[in-house]
Amino acid sequence: MIDYGYSLKVLNIPLGEEIFKICYYSFHMTYLLIDQETQRLKFRQLRSSDFDEWLPLFKEKNTAKFLEMDPNLTPFELCEKWFEKSFYRYKNELGGMNVLINKETDQFIGQSGLLVQNIDNQNRLEVGYSILPKYWNQGYAFEAASKCRDFAFEHNFIDSLISVIHTANKGSEKVALKNGMTFEKKFDNNFNIFSIEKINWKQ
Ligand SMILES: CC(C)(COP(=O)(O)OP(=O)(O)OC[C@H]1O[C@@H](n2cnc3c(N)ncnc32)[C@H](O)[C@@H]1OP(=O)(O)O)[C@@H](O)C(=O)NCCC(=O)NCCS
Repeated sequence: MIDYGYSLKVLNIPLGEEIFKICYYSFHMTYLLIDQETQRLKFRQLRSSDFDEWLPLFKEKNTAKFLEMDPNLTPFELCEKWFEKSFYRYKNELGGMNVLINKETDQFIGQSGLLVQNIDNQNRLEVGYSILPKYWNQGYAFEAASKCRDFAFEHNFIDSLISVIHTANKGSEKVALKNGMTFEKKFDNNFNIFSIEKINWKQ
C-alpha cells in the first residue's frame, strides 16, 4: 500500500482561559510541488495508476542510460523501478517527481520535481525532469524545471540547486543551461553536475 504521507497533528490555540485543540492533517512530503501551476501545467502527486501513461518513456533508446538505470531491463521493468523509487522518495522525505498535467487538455505530459541526492558525500537538491516523447521540444521540460527552481529558492529550501546530466544528453543539458545553471563538475564517469546558486538566481 502507498503511504500518502499525511499525518494527524494537534494545534493548541490559547484563547483567554481556554485552549482550543484543532486536529488537522499535515502534509509532510517534503519538497513536492503538489497543486503548483505554470502557464500550461499543473503539478500533482504520482499514482500507481499512472503506470501505462508513463511507460512510453522507457521505450526510447537512450532513456535507461540517461536516467542511470540498467539498460538490460525491459521498458516495463524500467517503469516499475521508476515507480518504486518515486514512492520510496515520497515515503522517506527525499523529495520526488510530480506529474505534469496540461491544464487545458488534462493530458499527462511528464514528470518533474525536487530530489534529494547524495553527491560526493554531500546532500544536494536536484531539479529533475522527464517528458513523454510525444511532447518533446515543446518547452515543457524548461517550463517545469524553472518552476521547481523558483519554488525551491522562494521557500529557502537550499542555497544551490543541481541537475545531474549524462554527458550525451544534450537536450537535458540545454534545459539546465536555460534554467540558469552552469557546469559545476564531473560525476560518476558519465555524468556532469550543472548547478545554480541562489545568489545568481533571477526570476
Ligand atoms: C531531455 C528532455 C527532458 C527535454 O525535454 P523537452 O520538453 O523536449 O525540452 P524543452 O522543449 O523544454 O527544450 C528546452 C531546450 O532544449 C532543446 N532541446 C530539447 N531536446 C533537445 C535535444 N535532444 N537536443 C538538443 N536540444 C534539445 C530545445 O530545443 C530547447 O531549446 P530552445 O529553447 O533554444 O528552443 C526530454 O527529451 C526527455 O524527457 N528525455 C528522456 C529522459 C531524460 O533524459 N530526462 C532528463 C534526465 S537528466
